[in-house]
Amino acid sequence: MAEGQGAQVSEAQIAVHWREEEYYHPPARFIAQANAADPTIFERFREEQFPECFKEYADLLVWDAYWHTTLDTSNPPFWKWFVGGRLNACYNCVDRHLATSRNKAAFIWVPEPESEDTKAITYQELYSRVNEFAALLRDFCRVEIGDRATFHLPMVPELPVSMLACARLGVVHSEVFGGFSGAACGDRIADSGSRILVTMDGYYRNGELIDHKAKADEAVAAARERGVVVDKVLVWRRYPGQYASKSPMIDGRDFFVDELLKDYRGTLVEPVSMPAEAPLFLMYTSGTTARPKGCQHSTGGYLAYVTGTSQYYQDIHPEDTYWCFADIGWITGHSYIVYGPLSLGTTSVMYEGVPTYPDPGRPWRIAERLGVNIFHTAPTTIRMLRKLGPDEPNKYNYHFKHMTTVGEPIEPDVWRWYYDVVGKGEAVIVDTWWQTENGGFLGSTLPALQPMKPGSCGPGVLGIYPVIYDEERNVIEAGSGRAGNICIRNPWPGIFQTIWGQPERFVQIYYERYCQDEKSTDWRDWPYMAGDGAVQAADGYFRILGRIDDVINVSGHRLGTKELESASLTVEEIAEAAAVPVMDEVRGRAVEMYVALKPGVSPSKDIEAKVAEAIEHEIGKIARPKNVWIVPDMPKTRSGKIMRRVIAGISNFADVGDVTTLANVEIVDDIRHHVQGEKVARGEVPRELSPQEMEDIKAFGHAE
Ligand code: WT7
Repeated sequence: MAEGQGAQVSEAQIAVHWREEEYYHPPARFIAQANAADPTIFERFREEQFPECFKEYADLLVWDAYWHTTLDTSNPPFWKWFVGGRLNACYNCVDRHLATSRNKAAFIWVPEPESEDTKAITYQELYSRVNEFAALLRDFCRVEIGDRATFHLPMVPELPVSMLACARLGVVHSEVFGGFSGAACGDRIADSGSRILVTMDGYYRNGELIDHKAKADEAVAAARERGVVVDKVLVWRRYPGQYASKSPMIDGRDFFVDELLKDYRGTLVEPVSMPAEAPLFLMYTSGTTARPKGCQHSTGGYLAYVTGTSQYYQDIHPEDTYWCFADIGWITGHSYIVYGPLSLGTTSVMYEGVPTYPDPGRPWRIAERLGVNIFHTAPTTIRMLRKLGPDEPNKYNYHFKHMTTVGEPIEPDVWRWYYDVVGKGEAVIVDTWWQTENGGFLGSTLPALQPMKPGSCGPGVLGIYPVIYDEERNVIEAGSGRAGNICIRNPWPGIFQTIWGQPERFVQIYYERYCQDEKSTDWRDWPYMAGDGAVQAADGYFRILGRIDDVINVSGHRLGTKELESASLTVEEIAEAAAVPVMDEVRGRAVEMYVALKPGVSPSKDIEAKVAEAIEHEIGKIARPKNVWIVPDMPKTRSGKIMRRVIAGISNFADVGDVTTLANVEIVDDIRHHVQGEKVARGEVPRELSPQEMEDIKAFGHAE
């Protein structure tokens, strides 16, 4: 890192925008009922107890065969947990609850239109549906253990049914977020080599029944271009018997699931006893190249980790009504809507639509009506609900005991609204820091035992020992006020096993930088580099500052700059493209694209629109840029690399940093004049950035 970047920011500087906060203590009522209320738990998980401490999590599951080795480090950093153990994830999430809770709701699904009734799906009903769909996958699609099946499903109960059916069979599921484009889905189908695509005809979003099946056709075509042929597309219907899409069904390829299921009524499928280290699912995330990373999660370690963290950090009891307001298409939904809560036998609420439909009181009406007492969402949703309905929570009679925030840093001001207004001062909050790669939480407070501090996620969670290193691998001490790269010194059961099909990239991205000795089989030599900048206060609490690589976090979703740029380059007229983050009041960050045109092409609004559309088409709506700026040339180094931090500085009205290494310095003022002039005219001048945000912008793209 060059002078003046992340590593030199002091806590005092950060204080200008985010002051060091006071502690908030958990309400006594919460403590009285908490799953983890006895401080001896810290003893059980202290470093000397590692790795055996995680037996406590694994013992929350039912094993067909107990493991002989808790942690096998013989092939680092490809750790193996609970080796020799066998289990089935579906059995643990469904079958084992039948004896005591057969007719208790496993899911309560809330459709977006308020005129439609909520649907409670009991554990018994879930069991039947999962078995029938598993039978269909096995007997009609002929999938086998270890095969991959891609889903492109929205927030409907058919999504967890499909996931659990795969888990029952030992088939690896790979759900692609429903809001992603057909092209993005096709890429992921090809990368994982799936022959099966499970999709839906349509779903509601903001009052509109969206034609979703059309994306399946694009996805299959995109996968075929990359040499992977999908032989069956299974289409669930939002209203069984009625087709909501205009896209034609392809004979012999596309099938309505509700029609096929008639042949499998009442069929039961024995859960397949899987080795603990068999893959359970893939979850794709963005990296610094256009090729997405398929994070491969294990069966035993993953399920143990999400069950344990759901028990202690989400404080889930079987009698709670738990609502994680995230999409199952993201890791949060896999771990904390489906696998963790179901493993504990609780009732998990799923909502189909957008938070503010038809008005910003909707989430609180749902909470009141269903008696939700645990609520879990992301800062972007909290900001939006505050902006559009600051007093709405007061109008509804619901009571939360516990609330979670996840996905990006939450501003203390927003945190306080969440605490005072949404939580009515009665609920404890956990700010949970983790990543797609991690399976479950890494940094947070144990809710009854550690006080909250707005703007800070807290210390490492049980059994996780984080450290902050500087660029030279010196440890940055807690309380020093200096920022650095946050790493986890030890393996843990929820860590992903590899990047699907790219084991070298797995080692290189997460381990190479701080590995002490490549020959060593001692885990202490292999810290996991999270790729986030962080500062640790004297009390051990971490403040996460954001990504150190070229990833833009929009509303808690990671978008790779390379993905955005290659999508822009699909537009005929574009010669070069660069993506940068711009501070955004609601989304945290938004994307801005800078594009240079091919010789002879003149700038036009039409080209700007085409770039935005191409990004929406290739990646999805979430990535739609706030602005597309056509520039005469990109600021470049002498070796021809685009200096993203310079344009990021311009977009954010921030310092562009040192430009002396640019080959075309004169272009900077031109671009600044044009872009900032337009922004002023449109009233898009962002608030003044905090020193930390300035540093973030300067550090952006520093890898080049
Ligand atoms: C990145 C991971 C974990 C599921 C949702 C996002 C940022 C995540 C926090 C938090 C500050 C956070 C980090 C991380 N992040 N949680 N509580 N406070 N930053 O998963 O898409 O894999 O993104 O999100 O930068 O690396 P993801």
